[in-house]
Amino acid sequence: MTENAIEIEGLRKTYAATGRSAAKEALKGIDLNIPRGSIFGLLGPNGAGKSTIINILAGLVNKSAGRVNIWGFDQDKNPRQSRAAIGIMPQEPNLDPFFTPRGSLEVQAGLYGVPKSQRRTDEILELIGLTDKAEAYARSLSGGMRRRFLLGKALVHSPQILVLDEPTAGVDIELRNMLWANVRRLNEELGMTIILTTHYLEEAQEMCDEIAIINHGELITRDTTANLLGRLDSKTMVITPAEPIAQPDVPAGITVASRKDGSLAFTYKPRETSAEAVLAAVHAAGIRIADVKTEEADLEDVFLALTSSR
Ligand SMILES: Nc1ncnc2c1ncn2[C@@H]1O[C@H](COP(=O)(O)OP(=O)(O)OP(=O)(O)O)[C@@H](O)[C@H]1O
Ligand SMILES: [Mg+2]
Repeated sequence: MTENAIEIEGLRKTYAATGRSAAKEALKGIDLNIPRGSIFGLLGPNGAGKSTIINILAGLVNKSAGRVNIWGFDQDKNPRQSRAAIGIMPQEPNLDPFFTPRGSLEVQAGLYGVPKSQRRTDEILELIGLTDKAEAYARSLSGGMRRRFLLGKALVHSPQILVLDEPTAGVDIELRNMLWANVRRLNEELGMTIILTTHYLEEAQEMCDEIAIINHGELITRDTTANLLGRLDSKTMVITPAEPIAQPDVPAGITVASRKDGSLAFTYKPRETSAEAVLAAVHAAGIRIADVKTEEADLEDVFLALTSSR
């Protein structure tokens, strides 16, 4: 059996033209394997094709071409098993307004054929912090509660793979932390494979072991988060001078910029220029240092470098 939770090969999707819009080629041949037990991030700008991939995994959108294997089951040959292995928290909440959270979770469990004796409705309500809203109409839930409820719905059949499409969009910080704590726990304690999309790159940087970046329906790159961060060979040393000073001349390999607060930002490539050399340049320019800090490239820089040129 394969070590991958998901295997995607040559995945293509063209949405058919409608009266109002032309046909759209949303996925142009994606190859992607997602290892079991990982927390995997799917990143990309608006319209890149992330939700299309996720909705194909969920069986909500039909692919135009390619092969999708979920937990060892080919989606076309074993649709039932491949669907049972995955739970999806969709980007667009689609709630039945007159159902209660408890009622909806029970219906969902029924749809997946989970026998009454094996249902975990109370446990899930507890996990998503909706125990006291268990009997409320869905339409009376706040936006954040609805998103939590969707997470609960994705979990009723105890899937091996949990997919979260923009789970924290429009969610407050406290709730976001709670959501991520839960997701981490599912990953660590149950070994659940987690796949997520997010527009908060710090969040991806913090949560994900590996990341794939999609743009215009193509896979731009896929790497461990650490490797991605290491790819941008750039560091900045920010010096606050003891007394105001004009922008100095610096040797090749270092660039300098004055900042509004009077500090000087020296940017260099750590693989070519040492911090020692930067400090030597600072001293040579006669700058006395009142304070110093360094700034490293973050996922946002990597992301922009990879997606903005296209
Ligand atoms: N049902 C649909 N019918 C026609 N075109 C669609 C449909 N769903 C998505 N698209 C188009 O396919 C492309 C990819 O959309 P998708 O929703 O997969 O992007 P995304 O990466 O999830 O973006 P976002 O970050 O905004 O959620 C977009 O150009 C979008 O307009
Ligand atoms: Mg989307």
